[in-house]
Amino acid sequence: MANGAGLRVGVVGCGYWGSKHVRVLHSLDSVDRVAVVDPNPERALQLSRNYPAMDSYTTLPEALPNLDAVIIATPPSTHRPLALMAIEAGVHVLVEKPLATTSADARMMLDAAQAKGVVLMVGHTFEYHSAVWKLREMVQNRELGELYYLDTARLNLGLYQNDCNVLFDLAPHDISILNYVLGAKPVSVKCWSSRHAHRQLEDVGYLRLRYENPDVIANVHVSWLDPCKVRRVTIVGSEKMVIFNDLATEERIKVHDKGVSERPDSGLDLTQPPMSYRYGDVVAPFLLVNEPLKLEDEHFLDCAISGMHPLTDGENGLAVVEVLEAAQRSAEQGRPVRLDEFAGGSVRPSAVGELL
Ligand SMILES: NC(=O)c1ccc[n+]([C@@H]2O[C@H](COP(=O)([O-])OP(=O)(O)OC[C@H]3O[C@@H](n4cnc5c(N)ncnc54)[C@H](O)[C@@H]3O)[C@@H](O)[C@H]2O)c1
Repeated sequence: MANGAGLRVGVVGCGYWGSKHVRVLHSLDSVDRVAVVDPNPERALQLSRNYPAMDSYTTLPEALPNLDAVIIATPPSTHRPLALMAIEAGVHVLVEKPLATTSADARMMLDAAQAKGVVLMVGHTFEYHSAVWKLREMVQNRELGELYYLDTARLNLGLYQNDCNVLFDLAPHDISILNYVLGAKPVSVKCWSSRHAHRQLEDVGYLRLRYENPDVIANVHVSWLDPCKVRRVTIVGSEKMVIFNDLATEERIKVHDKGVSERPDSGLDLTQPPMSYRYGDVVAPFLLVNEPLKLEDEHFLDCAISGMHPLTDGENGLAVVEVLEAAQRSAEQGRPVRLDEFAGGSVRPSAVGELL
């Protein structure tokens, strides 16, 4: 800790997302000093115009002796080496999504943090979003009736990354939302992905996640190659249906009191429609106004100070990486992949065609 009561926090990687962390950290009472680490000096220079008191470094080893905590917002392939370096130095770590690019790397990070007694947290920002809290509350309280299916779409033209494909870039958000809302982890994944505009990296992906408890399927569509920007989660139940549209400026959640049921006598009488439809009110529940990233960073620093366990801990990050890894394998091998193939880091081949 610095001489003041607060922490000395470094943001490693000051691009699009890291610069948002820099802004947020400057608004938190628990922060005494903010430092930035980026090999590109232009990044630090741009930020220092708004925050002239910040320390700036081009490598993490130079910065670590002067830090209590770091937020790693660099490309995913660098997460493991940077996090391990910080952990080794006894510094608390928040790693942006995805926690790592393989489950073996994620486990290595968890083990290292536990051995050193430092906080390891993952930046699953949507778990700090009041709309996602609302979705979870509705599902957990069974307000939608029997859960039929969940569907997410995260589409846009770009932004193409050069470090990972669209699955590892965008799907972590949806997998973390689904796991959080359902209070469960999927048991198996089926994935189709394809490369179009980029030669090496898949730019379109469809995932089908099977959960056992609750017994439900979730479909995830991610794309860097779509004409429309979409950020949507839909949950369909027997009583109600709910949509979270993250692009809406107001009424981000709409609960549709709509339903459909089979007519008891429809099978025999072909002159009658087979289903009956119910159209009720559309309600937009009140949502707390908060900035998820601010809540996330505040929580990370509270954990670093108090030793409290973070809500989005290393295990939570690992759970998402396991799904991504299974999805990648499923796309490559054209078969559903069970998550327990990755249990304990070992690979257990599953029977083709089982489950999904
Ligand atoms: N939680 C969210 O909602 C959210 C949103 C966007 C991005 N992200 C995540 O944030 C991370 C960064 O994404 P971005 O869009 O800001 O990328 P970016 O390309 O805009 O920025 C990455 C920065 O990291 C720097 N960098 C690269 N290697 C480094 C190293 N070894 N040490 C220090 N700095 C290094 C680069 O110079 C660059 O400035 C990714 O993991 C991404 O998935 C999270």
